Amino acid sequence: MPARDAIALAADLPLQQATSLYDRISPHVGIVKVGLSLFVEHGPLAVKAFADLGARVFLDLKLHDIPNTVELASARAAALGVSYLTVHASGGTDMLVAAVRGAESGAKTSGRAPPEILAVTVLTSMNSATFNEVVPSSEIDEQVDRLARVAVKANVGGLVCSAREVSRLRQMKSDLILCTPGIRPEGSAANDQSRVETPATAIASGATFLVIGRPIYAAIDPLDAARRIECEVQSALSA
Ligand code: C5P
Repeated sequence: MPARDAIALAADLPLQQATSLYDRISPHVGIVKVGLSLFVEHGPLAVKAFADLGARVFLDLKLHDIPNTVELASARAAALGVSYLTVHASGGTDMLVAAVRGAESGAKTSGRAPPEILAVTVLTSMNSATFNEVVPSSEIDEQVDRLARVAVKANVGGLVCSAREVSRLRQMKSDLILCTPGIRPEGSAANDQSRVETPATAIASGATFLVIGRPIYAAIDPLDAARRIECEVQSALSA
């Protein structure tokens, strides 16, 4: 796989800034993650803007609601032609199954390929203290494994997880898509992420693709940052 297809830009910027950035770095980055802020402001136009630039779109809405609502939203996302859609694994089996069903029906109706449903386990911004506020008397790792098992049983396409969890989760199912935010090249600031790894380590551990925001878009030279990350990923893929 070309390194470019293993890198997703987290486009957490105003739309015009994000599209002009992606236009410059697209030789090095094949996927664009459209998150809540862009989608709340621009809706489907945000998806179209990156698809028109040749990106595969990862719609990161982290859906978490009753199964029927998630199924309807998933079907609408599929009709937009996105490649990946996120849901929270903590929504449980029925919600996850509904998300997969919605993706398939929405894609069928619109004549597109269904998006892969990616289940978020525990946010990579969480540390033990913030995690224990909401889930007392459990460890992050235990919770990640518990949620991953539920998601795999519901037949999702993959998981969003920390790079530190990839090799463990890969053992659950060999063809799972494992997508990892919390990526920080050597020397870049962690910002609000707690469980971070370098691009090379994440790929070497078995990540399918990396979600990278600030290390690219907040770099002094984003094109150079993207180029370096692509090189690092390429070396790890060919190692
Ligand atoms: O700027 P940075 O590289 O930290 O961006 C990471 C992106 O991945 C953000 O858009 C964030 O919302 C997303 N994300 C995350 N942790 C998760 C799931 C998604 O950081 N578990």
